[in-house]
Amino acid sequence: MTQDLIRRAVIAGTGSALPRRRVTNAELAETVDTTDEWIVERTGIRARYIAGDGETTATLAADAARRALESAGIAAASVGLIVLATATPDQTFPSSATKVQALLGIDDCVAFDVQAVCSGFLYALSVAESMIRSGAATTALVIGAETFSRILDWEDRGTCVLFGDGAGAVVLTAEDGPADPAQARGVLSTRLHADGRHNDLLYVDGGPSTTGTVGKLRMKGREVFRHAVVNLAGVLNEVLAELELTSADIDWLVPHQANARILDATARKLGLSPDRVIVTVDQHANTSAASVPLALDVAVRDGRITRGDLLVLEAMGGGFTWGASVVRF
Ligand code: ACO
Repeated sequence: MTQDLIRRAVIAGTGSALPRRRVTNAELAETVDTTDEWIVERTGIRARYIAGDGETTATLAADAARRALESAGIAAASVGLIVLATATPDQTFPSSATKVQALLGIDDCVAFDVQAVCSGFLYALSVAESMIRSGAATTALVIGAETFSRILDWEDRGTCVLFGDGAGAVVLTAEDGPADPAQARGVLSTRLHADGRHNDLLYVDGGPSTTGTVGKLRMKGREVFRHAVVNLAGVLNEVLAELELTSADIDWLVPHQANARILDATARKLGLSPDRVIVTVDQHANTSAASVPLALDVAVRDGRITRGDLLVLEAMGGGFTWGASVVRF
């Protein structure tokens, strides 16, 4: 008997890129009223990368995309869709996705940005995989890229120590596989949420339609922390329940890298052992929309994540927005 096949989006390759300049906590403490001890104890962050001259969200995104295409063995010319998640685009318009398209030398494709701050990659992944499932695209680049260093208030020690710059990318391709998710690979399930009542807890105090300036990041850290742990546990349970999975089925949790305490609290709530959580926040700090694909690429390249592994990706960010996705790699 032949089994019905259904179309899914499969991760064919991953890539990432970081700015040239790495800044440790000790270096930061030379200009900001802080200490390595405070930052490590409260956040787990030890270093971050800061974009310099000539490095922008689009250039980092294009570098990450090139590496993802190379690891997938797919030519840039085959890409029909670029979805770039960012809250720090090169320009208000046009989209940084179109800049990436030009940098990659792709003559014609669909290209646009998605803005959901730190959850941006989950939102972008969901849009791209929906377009692949519907037949609107067959090969897609999904990128998370940020240069948060350019919207930080370096006088505000409560926020400027937390963030870094970088980019991560995946190549998605269409694949017809078994209908039963237990036997299939690719993106198996995604849940997204937003609650716009919390704008005042995490926002940028500028914008084209208000002040006419770019603005700086503002955050009420304690309240964000509280919402993050509750929302992430909720969406993780939802996405696992949809596939009748438990945390015991997960090979790797690839979380948004906001800070080590949120990661620990989320893993504990899920009953997941810390050695199944990919952690890069110590080296990259919070790179917003870049953090999930960046962590994914690090763990693929160092050999922890291998083909066939069941992954759960999750993120939460300003808005608030949050989401999770179950992927068989
Ligand atoms: N160095 C030294 N001292 C500092 C620093 C710093 N960099 N920043 C703040 N402090 C001081 C404060 O001034 C305060 O001093 P006081 O008691 O004399 O007034 C003290 O440290 C405690 O400040 P809090 O803001 O209450 O510190 P808290 O324990 O809440 O930790 C933190 C702050 C790390 C931001 C925490 O609230 C947090 O992790 N929140 C989550 C926010 C987050 O991750 N946001 C990322 C974006 S959203 C997302 O990605 C999920």
